[in-house]
Amino acid sequence: MKSAIEIDAGALKHLQDARHLVVFTGSGVSQESGIPTFRDAQVGLWAKYDPNELATPEAFAKQRDVVWGWYEFRRSQILRCQPNPGHQAIEALARHLPKLTLITQNVDDLHERAGSHGVIHLHGSIFQPRCRACGRPHTLTPGIPDLPSEVQQIMPPKCNHCGGWIRPGVVWFGEELPRNAWSDAKQAVRECDVLLCVGTSAVVYPAAALPFEAAEQGVCVIQVNPDPTSLDSVARFNLRGRAGEVLPALVEAAWGS
Ligand code: OAD
Repeated sequence: MKSAIEIDAGALKHLQDARHLVVFTGSGVSQESGIPTFRDAQVGLWAKYDPNELATPEAFAKQRDVVWGWYEFRRSQILRCQPNPGHQAIEALARHLPKLTLITQNVDDLHERAGSHGVIHLHGSIFQPRCRACGRPHTLTPGIPDLPSEVQQIMPPKCNHCGGWIRPGVVWFGEELPRNAWSDAKQAVRECDVLLCVGTSAVVYPAAALPFEAAEQGVCVIQVNPDPTSLDSVARFNLRGRAGEVLPALVEAAWGS
């Protein structure tokens, strides 16, 4: 069956001819899997707090049960979700093009579960907590945490080696991005000829600088988002729509599947 979504012929041509495509994703790509976007995720207990204040090292020092409880709630949500056609279309793009680098701001693992490899996680991973004191990785109990549907206050575990508090393996406001991830992402953006930006409001820096830098270099920036964003003015093509609909339509229009 032919897709009902019309894809801009110019965007399609750029994509088909790309020698090195960078795909830059945000929480919008996981929205159709049932994971609320970062700014929509203010539910339950979390709704009482400003995420910009809670996703910080200072908040973890002061209210570690609130912060850990929220990340455990998010982790259990993610584990109950599956990759959607948007994640799958990005994996398909990698098979059709000579080179693709996937850079995500997401802390979920849905790109990997869709089959993507070598994903650059600029904001860390919710599945890789570590000791706040000694930095050693912490192994979470396998399986889906048995949590009620509301966010709970939960004390984090302690490190088996030094007794320090275990913290979520994500990047918080005021923290540096993981050094290797950031330098790999910058290099890919310097080398690419097309950048496909999917499901991000592009307001949280330094990650949000990547598509702007690409556009400044003359790279063709294609954006997929149902809503306007700060990137609209620099994107050469704005494909308005949901990732799970637009991306499969792009792949189908370009390569037939
Ligand atoms: P946001 O919540 O800021 O933005 C989500 C974007 O996805 C918005 O522009 C929506 O319009 C768009 N969107 C929603 N549904 C979509 C769909 N089905 N398909 C495509 N797009 C859709 O999330 P991010 O931009 O990812 O950082 O936020 C970036 C960073 O801000 C996060 O990684 C997090 C947060 O602070 C840290 O925690 C460090």
